Amino acid sequence: MTRKVLVLFAHPAYRRSRINRALIDAVSGLEDVTIHDLYETYPDFAIDTDHEQALLLEHQVVVAQHPLFWYSCPAILKEWQDLVLEHGWAYGRHGRQLEGKLWLQSVTAGGRDTAYREDGFNKWTVEELLRPFEATANLCHMVWQKPFVVHATHVAGDAEAAAAAAAYRARILALRDGSPVRAVAS
Ligand SMILES: Cc1cc2nc3c(=O)[nH]c(=O)nc-3n(C[C@H](O)[C@H](O)[C@H](O)COP(=O)(O)O)c2cc1C
Repeated sequence: MTRKVLVLFAHPAYRRSRINRALIDAVSGLEDVTIHDLYETYPDFAIDTDHEQALLLEHQVVVAQHPLFWYSCPAILKEWQDLVLEHGWAYGRHGRQLEGKLWLQSVTAGGRDTAYREDGFNKWTVEELLRPFEATANLCHMVWQKPFVVHATHVAGDAEAAAAAAAYRARILALRDGSPVRAVAS
């Protein structure tokens, strides 16, 4: 079974991006994978809700890809959530349009993995910090997937970037080509 994958990409300074650029390059041009650059499409933040909802309906997997900014996402992805995930459409008694679709968060973080744990510098894991997204997916009857996380971007060399890109491509292909719907393992 093949699923169509929509990558909602949010990076406000893509010109300066190294890691997200490597990830995007790794999944660009794949059949049934749509890359949707939110900052490029909506430089003025005027998100077209109808268009975004139509895109969601055309895909079975939604990937939110972004750098971790202040333990969360860049602003446009929050704006996208606020406008696109409408009551009565995505959630609420009659809001079932996203039911059963998969949601994957793909995050790059400057901090090392050892900084993201209870006894570490940041106290919480990235997965814990992403709980609002998981709760949103849950509210919208979507199936949350174990997040794809690249740590230590500030010290990542070309080899680390290439390894992350290869792992991301494999993860996206597995989602596209039908890994179990309820799988949470990476
Ligand atoms: C405004 C801003 C906020 C950031 N907040 C965090 C953060 O909360 N945690 C973290 O680990 N890194 C943080 N970073 C570092 C970015 O996550 C990191 O630079 C990015 O993931 C690198 O990916 P790129 O090469 O695609 O830009 C922040 C960077 C900026 C510019």
